Amino acid sequence: TPTLYHYALFSDNVLAASVVVNSTIVNAKDPSKHVFHLVTDKLNFGAMNMWFLSNPPGKATIHVENVDEFRWLNSSYCPVLRQLESAAMREYYFKAEHPTTLSSGASNLKYRNPKYLSMLNHLRFYLPQVYPKLEKILFLDDDIVVQKDLTGLWDVDLHGKVNGAVETCGESFHRFDKYLNFSNPHIARKFDPNACGWAYGMNMFDLKEWKKRDITGIYHKWQNLNEERLLWKLGTLPPGLITFYGLTHPLDKSWHVLGLGYNPSIDRSEIENAAVVHYNGNMKPWLELAMTKYRGYWSKYIKYNHPYLRQCKLNE
Ligand SMILES: *[C@@H]1O[C@H](CO)[C@@H](O)[C@H](O)[C@H]1NC(C)=O
Ligand SMILES: *[C@@H]1O[C@H](CO)[C@@H](O)[C@H](O)[C@H]1NC(C)=O
Ligand SMILES: *[C@@H]1O[C@H](CO)[C@@H](O)[C@H](O)[C@H]1NC(C)=O
Repeated sequence: TPTLYHYALFSDNVLAASVVVNSTIVNAKDPSKHVFHLVTDKLNFGAMNMWFLSNPPGKATIHVENVDEFRWLNSSYCPVLRQLESAAMREYYFKAEHPTTLSSGASNLKYRNPKYLSMLNHLRFYLPQVYPKLEKILFLDDDIVVQKDLTGLWDVDLHGKVNGAVETCGESFHRFDKYLNFSNPHIARKFDPNACGWAYGMNMFDLKEWKKRDITGIYHKWQNLNEERLLWKLGTLPPGLITFYGLTHPLDKSWHVLGLGYNPSIDRSEIENAAVVHYNGNMKPWLELAMTKYRGYWSKYIKYNHPYLRQCKLNE
């Protein structure tokens, strides 16, 4: 059992981050032992800092950093940045000669979504670089809510694996062939198409094992192979499945219940027993299209009497 419990949260959404931090602290048995390491971008750094300065999370500690100040995270080190830069360059020259048609515009739109371009998303592959002194860290997405004390996660034996995560291949078929191109020999040679997928959102990472196995190097190797996007298309889950293949320890499902952003038929008791609930999908609880039946699990951790929030139409 560690003396302090460290969390990594990478977000550009102040309201979402405030709910993650507040819900963790409200449900912690001893808040003073919890430390949040929040990284945001240049645009949101001021607001994020101000929020936690004026609404400090009780006795817990919070530290906010700006990803744009990580000098080591540059395109000579990081393949995804290099690829984004060269894609932007290609598009620039391409557009100069040919006006973009409607259809190619639509198919490109996805790749231009800032979510996929933001380094905040890829920062999860650099945890030991961001936190060189830590041995373990709990990674949290900003579209989750914590409902229980999480310290028990630090006692789970990961059996020498690097990533503790809940598996997702139960009812629905979230297996490797859903995320990766098995017509490609690089993929077909190395992976089992039936291997079970797992979820990002609440992951325990053993950073000592990570460094020992050079996880970031493995990620870089595969990200370089995917230059032409033939192995996978978008997002961080496919490269995560590849990088942590054989290095993921399954956690009990009650730690992390998924689907509150798209699945209208999750069992109520499953949600209420969960340590963490996750609004993965498009129907985020802070958006109008959120599912009303799930919104309360999130909105109960908002500070409603805050003057900035009183004008928001967030129904309790
Ligand atoms: C880019 O990152 C590398 C390693 O992460 C570092 O050694 C180098 O100094 C960085 N370059 C700049 C221009 O900051
Ligand atoms: C899958 O990989 C094969 C072999 O590299 C390639 O020809 C094909 O276009 C890829 N499929 C997709 C959807 O990228
Ligand atoms: C944290 O959540 C509690 C409800 O559980 C709420 O009363 C409080 O205002 C919230 N605090 C902040 C700073 O968001």
